[in-house]
Amino acid sequence: MTPTPPPVPVLTADADAITRASEVLAAGGLVVMPTETVYGLGADASSESAVARMYEAKGRPADHPVIVHVLRAADLDAWAVEIPDYARALAERFWPGPLTLVLPRRPGVGEVAAGGAPTIALRSPSHPVARALIDAFGSGVAAPSANRFGRVSPTTAQHALDELGDVLTEHDLVLNGGDCAIGVESTILDCTGPEPVVLRPGGVTTNDVAEVVATASARPSDLDLATRAPGTLAAHYAPAARVLLAEPIEADAVINAAPPGEVGLIASADYMPTTERFVHRLVAPGTSEEYAQDLYSALRRADDLGLVAVVAVLPPDEGIGHAVRDRLLRAATGSAG
Ligand code: TXA
Ligand code: MG
Repeated sequence: MTPTPPPVPVLTADADAITRASEVLAAGGLVVMPTETVYGLGADASSESAVARMYEAKGRPADHPVIVHVLRAADLDAWAVEIPDYARALAERFWPGPLTLVLPRRPGVGEVAAGGAPTIALRSPSHPVARALIDAFGSGVAAPSANRFGRVSPTTAQHALDELGDVLTEHDLVLNGGDCAIGVESTILDCTGPEPVVLRPGGVTTNDVAEVVATASARPSDLDLATRAPGTLAAHYAPAARVLLAEPIEADAVINAAPPGEVGLIASADYMPTTERFVHRLVAPGTSEEYAQDLYSALRRADDLGLVAVVAVLPPDEGIGHAVRDRLLRAATGSAG
């Protein structure tokens, strides 16, 4: 039996489709949109009911804030107050791009998108389709990643449809804009204090930030906490397969010690297993940038293949490799077993 296709229209993101998508947003509907990082599930950030439906579609608790997507640095003042000079400098330097700034929220705006918090997360995406949509809509678009709560973010329109196809309706829309170029979510900086604090590493690296602000720091990560008390971190970015991490030097041993059953391998092209054990090579990226691009689709493929475990050989902790390691650590912490 062929499964019934989902009722939500899926359109190639041309000019007509973008106009239609802006009408869907204005009518309170949801639009799956490509960004340069991952696909987002967009809603009118000023509409309480649209944002509430977006939370419901994701299965996300209503007190989890989402990012409001805007066009340019000049839009900061529409959503935020008490904006530090360093935050404006970061927006001028890295927008449009994979950088999210958390700022004191302007009272009376974006309250539901902010999950009731006194702060708001703002990002100006560089993907031409996301930009054209925000421009046509004429206001901020609240968009979390277009996956069910706690799951791996989608980097293709099909992956977003796999996640949300059964909850979106004919009043919503999926814009297909091809594969996401970066592949992991944006860098999030808390800009409510005297200096920025990295809440989530991403495409804009700590070194990039340091070019603009000398004194950025990283929050003590909840991953450190999770290591101290395993299982305390909510499952996030996690596939069903168990994720086993390895530095290159220990990778053969980790493959050999993996649980019985079919095992996948995510490792850069220069790692060649020398063990007897068969592994499905899910992806063989040549650079850390390619690693980031392919990571989430490789984790999805592991589940499609029904693999019991995936051994992920970590990239060097530099540049985007830092964000890849962060997501892999989360996947390993959140995965079953
Ligand atoms: O690359 C991205 O950032 C993608 C694309 C679609 O733009 N979006 C994304 O959204 O990853 P989401 O909702 O999956 O992750 C946003 C993160 C969450 O961890 C949330 O807790 C944090 O941003 N966040 C949002 N508003 C915040 C706030 N006011 N204060 C602190 N963290 C906030
Ligand atoms: Mg997400």
